[in-house]
Amino acid sequence: MLITPESFAEKILQFYRLHGRKDLPWQKNPTAYRVWVSEVMLQQTQVKTVIPYYQKFMRSFPNVKKLANAPIDDVLHHWQGLGYYSRARNLHRCAQIVMTDYKGRFPKNLTQMESLPGIGRSTAGAILSLAMGQPTPILDGNVKRVLARVFLVDGWYGQSAVAKQLWALTEKYTPKDNTANFNQAMMDLGASFCSRSRPQCEQCPLEENCLAYIHGKTDEYPNKKPKKSIPTKQVKLLLRTNKKDQILLLKRPPTGIWGGLWSLPEMTASSQNELIDEFKHTFTHFHLDIKVLSGTPSNQIEENSALQWHNITQLSELAFPTPIKKFLFKYFQIN
Ligand code: ADE
Repeated sequence: MLITPESFAEKILQFYRLHGRKDLPWQKNPTAYRVWVSEVMLQQTQVKTVIPYYQKFMRSFPNVKKLANAPIDDVLHHWQGLGYYSRARNLHRCAQIVMTDYKGRFPKNLTQMESLPGIGRSTAGAILSLAMGQPTPILDGNVKRVLARVFLVDGWYGQSAVAKQLWALTEKYTPKDNTANFNQAMMDLGASFCSRSRPQCEQCPLEENCLAYIHGKTDEYPNKKPKKSIPTKQVKLLLRTNKKDQILLLKRPPTGIWGGLWSLPEMTASSQNELIDEFKHTFTHFHLDIKVLSGTPSNQIEENSALQWHNITQLSELAFPTPIKKFLFKYFQIN
């Protein structure tokens, strides 16, 4: 049976008491300003990297007014090394909006909070819950991973239907009481026992409820972003032999695909030649659909000084791309 929200929250809060992080610098005096700065820094950066940056930032810009009035170059300078500098620009702009539109106090309402630059739904939920005592759910990368595993959510978060399901789950399972500790614990669980690789499921409070664990599929969830689909190109290669048991081969130019290797000559014109074989080969950026066609008048291939006749008995001495080698060896029954 699916775990109830009450039981879920109880287990997560118990985990918080035992293992939750309680001494992070932004957890001391957790004002909206301090939690906001920490959450923005933590959006793409790990806790242990963030801590010294956070402390220096707070010494230089102890409140939203100081930040709003600081020159942008000063703010960017404090960001040096954290990366994703648009976060720093948004932080600065946001501070100015809080000063002008909200008299220096962060809005207490989710819709207004979310409309500020650099604050998405999850960051807004984190600020409102961790600093302002509101029961707002969050869904950062850690929480997504925990929920996708426990409830075996199929699909990649970038698909809106999947994001919607995960938001519905975090809304359902986030308790109205103790929301701050619950949210912190979910992030801490995702960052510790429920890590991306090699999760320590035996230590997890949700071990017996986690569908991914029960089905032995923790390594498949959350599902990865699907690979980009790549185009298929067609190529026709010529198989031409002569009466001296020789085959016509092309030395490929040194750069580009199959650079410097021997291959079959490419045919320029289409014609009614006999199809000998057909196979596919996949490169990083495209699939190649290869057709090998039999002997043909020479005007169907480009004049090319890289064309040479080679003895069929000596093919094993030449370097071929794997799919070409496979074809030739099969065709001429070479071992
Ligand atoms: N990642 C994002 N927010 C965090 C927080 N408050 N504590 C730990 N990791 C986090």
